[in-house]
Amino acid sequence: MGFRWAMAGHSVMIGSRVAERALEAARQMNERLPAGTRPVSGADNPTAVGDAEVVVLSVPYEAQAATLEGIREALAGKLLITVVAPLKTPKGRYWRPAGDSAALEAQAQLGEAVRVVAAFQSISAEHLQDPTHEIDSDVMVCGEKKDDRDVAVALAAAAGMRGIHAGGLGNTPVVEGLAAVMIAINVRYKIKNAGLRITGIPADAADAG
Ligand SMILES: NC(=O)c1ccc[n+]([C@@H]2O[C@H](COP(=O)([O-])OP(=O)(O)OC[C@H]3O[C@@H](n4cnc5c(N)ncnc54)[C@H](OP(=O)(O)O)[C@@H]3O)[C@@H](O)[C@H]2O)c1
Repeated sequence: MGFRWAMAGHSVMIGSRVAERALEAARQMNERLPAGTRPVSGADNPTAVGDAEVVVLSVPYEAQAATLEGIREALAGKLLITVVAPLKTPKGRYWRPAGDSAALEAQAQLGEAVRVVAAFQSISAEHLQDPTHEIDSDVMVCGEKKDDRDVAVALAAAAGMRGIHAGGLGNTPVVEGLAAVMIAINVRYKIKNAGLRITGIPADAADAG
């Protein structure tokens, strides 16, 4: 997603537990970005979060709690968009965590200081770094506040997708489960990019929260 956001003109910083890894990931991304694009940067997680307006959490579910603990202070007052889906490796089977969903657990861990929105769980990373590839899928966006969901909907649009307001965080067990559904479909049909479309929304009302 960072690649597409950089292409759309957003300032993107990659975070990592190890700053050098983030810098290397940023270097590789910059090599593929068109000339003239604002370069992607990299830093350790707390630094990346501290500099950000919006933070995207993209780690395996098992790493979520520790990752959030490490950036808790830097996250205060910010919007956290989580793409985390609790999946069993290696087959990508969904399982429901004790707190009902990864996003609900993140919100419970961070408290009111951070607004959590869940999005992009059903989008495969496979073609995101190919800007010519149209992602044939909508993005489900769950969060308590419309203004916060609006940010994720706008970021989906910046990455070439339609974001859909899909309710509060209480719906996140469903959208996180969709990640496993998409993986199962990909495996069964030997594809890499199964997508999901919501029908019935008038074109001029797609962002009506
Ligand atoms: N891949 C997809 O197509 C896709 C689609 C929808 C949703 N998701 C969800 O998005 C999340 C990330 O998926 P991914 O495929 O990008 O995962 P990943 O490549 O395994 O991990 C992403 C990053 O998380 C950090 N990380 C990994 N293990 C960690 C650990 N034990 N403790 C702390 N940090 C750790 C690593 O960064 P550093 O080592 O640099 O810190 C790693 O580069 C998952 O929850 C997944 O279910 C993925």
